[in-house]
Amino acid sequence: MAGTRLPPEDTDVPQVRLPVTADLISDDDRSVAADSWSIKSDYGSTLDDDQRHADASEALAAAPYRTASDYSSDKEEPDAETITSMLGFQSYWDTAYADELTNFHEHGHAGEVWFGADVMEMVASWTKGLCVDISQKQMQNHHDNANDNSDLDKQGEKDLADWSVLDVGTGNGLLLQELAKQGFSELTGTDYSEGAIDLAQSLANRDGFASIKLLVDDILETKLDKKFRLVTDKGTLDAIGLHPDGPIKRIMYWESISRLVAPGGLVVITSCNNIKDELVQEVENFNQRKAPEESDISRNPPIFSYLDHIRSYPTFMFGGSVGSRVATVAFLRS
Ligand SMILES: C[S@@+](CC[C@H](N)C(=O)[O-])C[C@H]1O[C@@H](n2cnc3c(N)ncnc32)[C@H](O)[C@@H]1O
Repeated sequence: MAGTRLPPEDTDVPQVRLPVTADLISDDDRSVAADSWSIKSDYGSTLDDDQRHADASEALAAAPYRTASDYSSDKEEPDAETITSMLGFQSYWDTAYADELTNFHEHGHAGEVWFGADVMEMVASWTKGLCVDISQKQMQNHHDNANDNSDLDKQGEKDLADWSVLDVGTGNGLLLQELAKQGFSELTGTDYSEGAIDLAQSLANRDGFASIKLLVDDILETKLDKKFRLVTDKGTLDAIGLHPDGPIKRIMYWESISRLVAPGGLVVITSCNNIKDELVQEVENFNQRKAPEESDISRNPPIFSYLDHIRSYPTFMFGGSVGSRVATVAFLRS
């Protein structure tokens, strides 16, 4: 991703969409958006936001972690760095979604499909596979004498209805639509930009997915107090990490996610700014920070454990190393 917005009709030609400086508003304006909260009453607020920030700052100070300057590169074009970090600001997204809403109303365009439609479809079908496997294993554990494999397959698919799903930073909500096509039915999408939620709602209504719940919510100061069996993120942690306070915000992100994923549930992160091993390391750092000192791992398993990642993305060779443009990694919540 990193500053690249693709026009809806031309996914092969990366283009940078440049918000002018005047488009940027201060983070104070975000509290205005937070005040105009549109979350339904079953998602109450129980947490103290200042406390969250203080906790994350403390953790960052204590932990060996990349500092903001580590994220700066020695690129020749300093402007490119500035442009990239705009994606870490809500004002950037508000402007982007205002444009996308206009495009939707005038031309019916769905807007950006981040990382492309193929990646989105792969993430949805791969995630479904993981959930079906988990449901089947749970069933096998419960009914040892059970059913042949085909019964288990059918039951596993049926059980997708039991997987409550939250897509954080859902944007236009198309990943949720894709998950609905795979058989998931309890779907919620959140985004801190009201424009994103308006767009996602308009598209869901138009495309026959009106049952998807869509809410304005900042994942770093989430007002959701419900737990979900599956939490997905495609490009949101990337965007959060691009804020000048990215490292601290990433810690706050994992704090929130750990509260939102139900025990035994999954979080599936799709990123183009971090490779799989970096995401796994970030989660291990989080686990270590949260582990009680000298804890017994059998009594206190890590909060998240790496489960799997998508291996079938196209790869490319650079400087003797093989990599892929996008990483999708699943972690299991203890
Ligand atoms: C790269 S876009 C990806 C959008 C969508 N997930 C997709 O794949 O099309 C990043 C999204 O994260 C949202 N976002 C960034 N920071 C957020 C935060 N703190 N809370 C909620 N949403 C956030 C942005 O508004 C934007 O919609």
